[in-house]
Amino acid sequence: MIIRAKDIKVVYKKKRRCISAIEQVSFTAHPGEVTVITGRSGSGKTTLVNVLAGLLVPDEGQVFYDDVSIYRINDDQLSGFRCRHTAYIPQGAGALANLTVFQNILLPSALAGQNNNAYAEQLLAAVGLEKLTNAYPDELSGGELRRLAAARALINSPSFIIADEPTNDLDEENSVLILKLLKAQAERGAAVIIVTHDSAAFAYADRVFQMDGGRLIYEENEHETSLCRPLVS
Ligand SMILES: Nc1ncnc2c1ncn2[C@@H]1O[C@H](COP(=O)(O)OP(=O)(O)O)[C@@H](O)[C@H]1O
Ligand SMILES: [Mg+2]
Repeated sequence: MIIRAKDIKVVYKKKRRCISAIEQVSFTAHPGEVTVITGRSGSGKTTLVNVLAGLLVPDEGQVFYDDVSIYRINDDQLSGFRCRHTAYIPQGAGALANLTVFQNILLPSALAGQNNNAYAEQLLAAVGLEKLTNAYPDELSGGELRRLAAARALINSPSFIIADEPTNDLDEENSVLILKLLKAQAERGAAVIIVTHDSAAFAYADRVFQMDGGRLIYEENEHETSLCRPLVS
């Protein structure tokens, strides 16, 4: 799926002041590519990916999924579409407390009426949680919960994946597990967006953008030629 944002503008209106979080951003995420968005805290990264995910309606601009404007389809259609095709790994780590690790990972596929037990096991191993299959979330560390959130988001093999700071709280070894897993999703054809401060992610990127004061700036990726496929812009 091609995800295209055109002329996005977001202003948060507070009692006393307005914060211009996104100023006139246009952006396209392509199938088969990892796009990394980096930049300082407060520069508008999470706001932008919330707009791309259809979770936040911008003050101006449009978002298209494969040329369909997501503001022209109704809420039910958009939710159904999101459930089937998109994965959002949010900045925090959410897990349902009364389900085991394995049940948490399976939840999105159960909701979609599928049985993906074998794939859930593969994902558990890919994020290094196989020994915690039957544990409950309150037995997990912050980093383990982050990895659980990543595995759960991928169970339905989504075609559009957004990961907001997915390697926060993770040591180097586990960061690499998550980045490799996200790269593998792009290799099977998904459009993947990773928001991160972590320069380790650049090695997995096809394109790198920097957010600065609500504007998106394209950066050449110095790793591109050695580690990544050629740039497709
Ligand atoms: N719900 C909100 N209400 C008001 N201001 C917000 C809200 N969310 C974010 N902001 C402000 O918008 C700007 C961009 O925030 P954000 O998109 O979270 O940046 P980043 O993810 O790069 O840290 C910041 O100045 C932030 O304080
Ligand atoms: Mg953020």
